[in-house]
Amino acid sequence: MRFEKLAAVLLASLPLTLLAQQPATLTIDTAKPVAAVSPTLYGLMTEEINYSYDGGLYAELVNNRMFQTNRGPGDAGWTILQNGDARATMAIDKTTGPSKALAHSLKLTVETAAPKSEAGIVNGGYWGIPVHPSEQYRGSFYAKADNDNIGAVTIRLINNNTGAVVATATVPALSTDWNHYEYTLKAGAVTASAANHLTLSVEHPGTVWFSLVSLFPPTYQNTPNGNRIDLMQKLAAMHPAFLRFPGGNYLEGDHINERYEWKKTIGSQVDRPTHPSPWNYHSSDGLGLLEFFEWCEDLHMQPLLAVYAGYSMRQEHVDAGSALEPYVQDALDEIEYATGSTSTKWGAIRAKDGHPAPFHINYIEVGNEDWFDRSGSYSGRFAQFYKAIKAAYPDIQIIATAPVKGIRPDVIDDHFYRSAQQFFDDVHHYDKTDRTGPKVMVGEWATREGSPTTNMGAALGDAAWMTGMERNSDIIVLASYAPLFVNVNPGGMQWPSDLIGYDALNSYGSPSYYAQVMFNTHLGDHVLDAKLDATNPRLFDSVTVDSKHHRVIVKLVNGSSQAQPVKIELSGAKGVHSKATLTTLSAPTTEATNSITDPKRIVPVVSSINNAASTFTHTVPRYSIQILNLDLN
Ligand code: AHR
Repeated sequence: MRFEKLAAVLLASLPLTLLAQQPATLTIDTAKPVAAVSPTLYGLMTEEINYSYDGGLYAELVNNRMFQTNRGPGDAGWTILQNGDARATMAIDKTTGPSKALAHSLKLTVETAAPKSEAGIVNGGYWGIPVHPSEQYRGSFYAKADNDNIGAVTIRLINNNTGAVVATATVPALSTDWNHYEYTLKAGAVTASAANHLTLSVEHPGTVWFSLVSLFPPTYQNTPNGNRIDLMQKLAAMHPAFLRFPGGNYLEGDHINERYEWKKTIGSQVDRPTHPSPWNYHSSDGLGLLEFFEWCEDLHMQPLLAVYAGYSMRQEHVDAGSALEPYVQDALDEIEYATGSTSTKWGAIRAKDGHPAPFHINYIEVGNEDWFDRSGSYSGRFAQFYKAIKAAYPDIQIIATAPVKGIRPDVIDDHFYRSAQQFFDDVHHYDKTDRTGPKVMVGEWATREGSPTTNMGAALGDAAWMTGMERNSDIIVLASYAPLFVNVNPGGMQWPSDLIGYDALNSYGSPSYYAQVMFNTHLGDHVLDAKLDATNPRLFDSVTVDSKHHRVIVKLVNGSSQAQPVKIELSGAKGVHSKATLTTLSAPTTEATNSITDPKRIVPVVSSINNAASTFTHTVPRYSIQILNLDLN
């Protein structure tokens, strides 16, 4: 056998883990910062998609609490309860409701009912109602009865599989006018489970109308009408600098009359008419405009508000000029609602809604993905919004969603949904971008590999792309991955490949989620002069400095199937501490992933190395993302 052939046979028989790429060299001048890192680089993008709020972050447990579907009033999510000999029917009644906004209701007509033969209505929640041992749940509903004899309404949480009553509450009597009733349910020593349903029942014949039937578990920071604790904790761990809301396509709506009309999402829940969302399910708007701002406040994020700009997704637009004026005024009112003092009209309304202190806004985005508008109307629409907003709020930076003619936006929003290989091939995308033009927001980006949440291959694509964004973060001031959330139950997902998955009871982060946590908790403040010399086309780097801590942060991404030795040469400092912290996210294959049943298969592992020096060699495992914290002497 010839030597080359023998070598090839021997090489092929080596386990993959023992193969290695040609050594690479990373030279870093620690005394040469080349650009400032944007302190707001990594944020969140959010919208109602994949049951992100209803059935997700918004902690409401009752599905279709307002008997309203994307196709109009409806009782989807509800069924009839007829215990024992009870006989009853339920139907939508469009003639009566508790408010102008909720002008219809669910009518329960009870022909026969008695103690132990109750009649009522049943709600299964969003793929179940989660119950935890000893937990207290706060509920309420609007109701009226046709006469005073209907008696009490009993509210129960019942385990689907055992029939055991997990918690009970009673509302003593209903009046014949619409009224708001509150109740509390307390679970006993149960096993945590999502296999529960809610019943509201009566023991006497008669008619009851229901609306806005609500049930909340404990929420993040115990905020009434608040958010799910586990999901808020996962977001907090990302240390996001900003929240881009309310969309996305959710801002635009399919049609102009289905756009995000913020004025219909504020005030008491009973005064919110709710609206059809473009993602094929109805939005309760329980998490409305004020709740978005409070979410920002809770997680110390800057609000990045996108205002509706006169374009909806089915190619409907409003021409610039007088027709657009009401929409521009609506945006100005919205900004005043958020930022105005209580002596302004809309600031006073915000105070009445429960938040007297104004919020601060640095960025406003005008529209979403207006490059889809084939009419070419965006330049005119953008200019009209830009001038009006700047005149009233000169310090606000205004973001355009597409290139515009005749006016220079402060920031341009770019979106990238790609494969890992496409991101690998394009990590230098912004290296040559004109530094004198508008700044950039990468307002939506993701490697779309893996479903419902992304896999390790996607995390590698994401991390490679983030090295490029970081190196160019003098110009990329904001970046937010999308979509953020997915309810992993069947029918819960409209967009495969998401960052954080959950069901009613549990949640988990994808490998992409952990890549973001790693990058954002090791950001640094300046990009250092660094040069990577490598033959491996799937090796990527970003080197920043944390000036306050005299720390060089080296991020290395090895997207190849072979380990990668890297000789790291540091100049410009007296020396380097030999002990360095190493954070690693890696997996044996690109298909490896986390899931609702296996949530922590791939998580960052923190270790230390002891051979750091001005020149040392570090080997980056295959399919891995690593961050080295090198402390300078
Ligand atoms: O993130 C999902 C969708 O992708 C957003 O709603 C939209 O802006 C983009 O096209």
